[in-house]
Amino acid sequence: MQIQYPSAMVQQIKDRLKGHHLTGFVSGMGPEHPQIALLGEAPGRQEAETGVPFVGSSGKELMKMIGLAGLTRDDVYITSVVRSRPYSVRSVVDKKTGQRVEKHPNRTPTKKEVLAYAQLFDWELQQIQPQILVPLGNTSLQRLLGPRANIGELHGQPRYTVIQEALPDDCGYQMGEHQYWVYPMYHPAAYLYARRLEPTVRKDWQKFGTWLQKLNQR
Ligand code: URA
Repeated sequence: MQIQYPSAMVQQIKDRLKGHHLTGFVSGMGPEHPQIALLGEAPGRQEAETGVPFVGSSGKELMKMIGLAGLTRDDVYITSVVRSRPYSVRSVVDKKTGQRVEKHPNRTPTKKEVLAYAQLFDWELQQIQPQILVPLGNTSLQRLLGPRANIGELHGQPRYTVIQEALPDDCGYQMGEHQYWVYPMYHPAAYLYARRLEPTVRKDWQKFGTWLQKLNQR
């Protein structure tokens, strides 16, 4: 299932972010009432082109990792804290032609962009009501737990906790009341760039699989 967001909410975000370098719109996808929601940062180029979350190189890595926990794409809900692809504008010289060309590489969303999507993200969690949130990397981890949370310290360690929710009018966050299991993991792009992290990430996902089995036997 691909979630249908309220169109007025989506329009309001687009209006707020007019002039930002953002393109496309990718909806969250997965079972209607999943046990697990994987939370990315923002769509990349392939996701913005296809409208499907995590189908690019990060997505392929992520699917291998969830496999280590005994899961497939069909078992989990997948979304991101920002729904459009953030890009920067670079003017570079093409090595083959010597001509100056404009490039639009992916970039990390800004805090303002994450905040602009915050109410939509809250709405989405209320719709799907997952028991377990898996933030992938610092952007989604800090959206849930605040700016001091750090993936290098918290990866692979589950906690049962309240999470941040948006205050009205884009003025920030407060802690909500509902508790979730939050299980932080490295974003797949992090170890695509730093291969030394891969054994740690593999261990984290294997541990997640064992933890999940125990949770479901309770
Ligand atoms: N990174 C994300 O955070 N989400 C995607 O869908 C793809 C890459």
